[in-house]
Amino acid sequence: MSEVYPVLASAKKDALIDNETYLNWYKQSIKDPEKFWAKHGKRIDWFKPYTKVKNTSFEGKVAIKWFEDGVTNVSYNCIDRHLKKRGDQVAIIWEGDNPYLDKKITYNELYEQVCRLANVLKKHGVKKGDRVTIYMPMIPEASYAMLACTRIGAIHSVVFGGFSPDALAGRIVDCESTFVITSDEGMRGGKPIPLKDNTDKAIDIAARHHVMVKNVLVVRRTGGKTGWAPGRDLWYHEEIASVKPECKPEKMKAEDPLFILYTSGSTGKPKGVLHTTGGYLVYASMTHQYVFDYHDGDIYWCTADVGWVTGHSYIVYGPLANGATTLMFEGVPNYPSVSRFWDVIDKHKVNIFYTAPTAIRALMSAGDEPVKKTSRKSLRILGSVGEPINPEAWEWYYQVVGDKRSPVVDTWWQTETGGILITPLPGATALKPGSATRPFFGVQPQLVDNEGDVLEGGADGNLCIIDSWPGQMRTVYGDHKRFIETYFSTYKGKYFTGDGCRRDKDGYYWITGRVDDVLNVSGHRMGTAEVESALVSHDTVSEAAVVGYPHDLKGQGIYCYVTLMAGLEGTDELRKELVTHVRKEIGPIASPDKIQFAPSLPKTRSGKIMRRILRKIAEDDFGALGDTSTLADPTVVEDMIANRQNRR
Ligand code: WT7
Repeated sequence: MSEVYPVLASAKKDALIDNETYLNWYKQSIKDPEKFWAKHGKRIDWFKPYTKVKNTSFEGKVAIKWFEDGVTNVSYNCIDRHLKKRGDQVAIIWEGDNPYLDKKITYNELYEQVCRLANVLKKHGVKKGDRVTIYMPMIPEASYAMLACTRIGAIHSVVFGGFSPDALAGRIVDCESTFVITSDEGMRGGKPIPLKDNTDKAIDIAARHHVMVKNVLVVRRTGGKTGWAPGRDLWYHEEIASVKPECKPEKMKAEDPLFILYTSGSTGKPKGVLHTTGGYLVYASMTHQYVFDYHDGDIYWCTADVGWVTGHSYIVYGPLANGATTLMFEGVPNYPSVSRFWDVIDKHKVNIFYTAPTAIRALMSAGDEPVKKTSRKSLRILGSVGEPINPEAWEWYYQVVGDKRSPVVDTWWQTETGGILITPLPGATALKPGSATRPFFGVQPQLVDNEGDVLEGGADGNLCIIDSWPGQMRTVYGDHKRFIETYFSTYKGKYFTGDGCRRDKDGYYWITGRVDDVLNVSGHRMGTAEVESALVSHDTVSEAAVVGYPHDLKGQGIYCYVTLMAGLEGTDELRKELVTHVRKEIGPIASPDKIQFAPSLPKTRSGKIMRRILRKIAEDDFGALGDTSTLADPTVVEDMIANRQNRR
């Protein structure tokens, strides 16, 4: 039996949503979605109001349209509409990697910065619908860049600064982006990251694929030395100084593309998840407000990177659409010390704190003292996102970090969903450590078994969502067929999340993790196929199979089975070389944790690799391999067990 924590009296007081309201609104949102969203769509400003609300189908060609005849602009909603009331209010608190560096940007200042940058983009020929790649550290200019794109209707594609030149190039090529915004270097944990150099390399690679980047706009962050291509490269500070501080927001239809964000799937290259304007902003802002019970004046901090969807929806768009003060942190949790998060909370009087289980586990392993020596008395709400949070980490977060005063909202969602789908609401939902609890308004989860039969009541199965919500992705950029195949074909007419999930007798949802070949390493999503293709691109590797295994800090670790070219011997030196190679191909987040050299891989007679067996061996659970009768050569497995790397 798991512990149940009733709604805290302190969280109930002044809460935007209590349990009765949750139940009522939820019922309405399912019974009459048109009416429900017609009302809540008005939380953003529209230049031309919508008359059509929902026009969505998960069948056939799959077409998803929300508020389709409405006209609006995202940067207008995140900035301009707040100016009268809160021009002098802080919009962004920036906390540098170096604890002595910080900066506050008011809504008035944000307006000027974004307008100037929008004018720079225009001056260099960026037009509505063009793709702009943003490869930036966590500095305010990253959010100016995103908002400037939305101001002129350009589609941004933010690429996480930890990705390699190859990974960046792939993303530039896929969406044929000819304008890149970056900085000389990034700064994390006291170490510089060569973003401009990586960009230069990526641009060369992209050129070989016939995508020519025309301009690179470079923010000077560290002053470190970088290469420079005159005519192509532009200094940000010089460019913004020479343009006007006003720029009219472009009129955007609700379904005009807003951004592309690449994410990993179970097969092939990362997919360009496309989100559009109106529905996305309505959903991001509404979830931000209710999930975090955001009240005017609250200081809100999400520790994600803008390179991930969490940064898009819950550092930039949701909070700014709500006129919030959002904190943006350049650094890492353990620099200069493992008290950094708690020090920042005290320094800026943070009320709402949203982070990932991997960070919680890492900080938990450093003990209570670094937390307890800080005050944290400003904290009111704690959030978790990115992977299942184990009950031990949840309890530590709640008891030690939150001093039992702050509810923990464990928010389940995905890049594809645009915003949070299953989550507690602080003033409404009794909590169970490890459960994401109940669906947000308008969200209809369903559990199905492997045959697609619907499971009712308490059950364990595959998690689908059976009707659309406004924040849902609309397509895979440039490949609608892949969109349909990936999400709507496994279980016809339903959006399949790729996650396994249990529903308990109280109707609470417990996400159990991916059921496809997607890894979640420290909250970073990665396809096993991507790591495999990085491995086989090394001259010594003939074949590779990659699986996840339980890892105390990372949640999942990366376990690689590698078959070498004939005659080669697997040495520790080669292991190291392969790790370096994968880091270079994808980025440090994809570093293999274990490499096992295997003379061959376990295959069925038809040649399919039996991943189930590989997973079991990686988990050091080879007592229960299940049916191995279809194996072409059973001795392969014996060898693998004898040479496994993950012995307890
Ligand atoms: C996958 C999506 C959502 C933004 C960050 C990750 C896992 C996410 C939770 C949670 C259990 C979670 C799922 C999901 N996941 N949040 N609260 N509990 N699992 O976005 O990179 O698109 O990854 O992350 O497996 O499918 P993403």
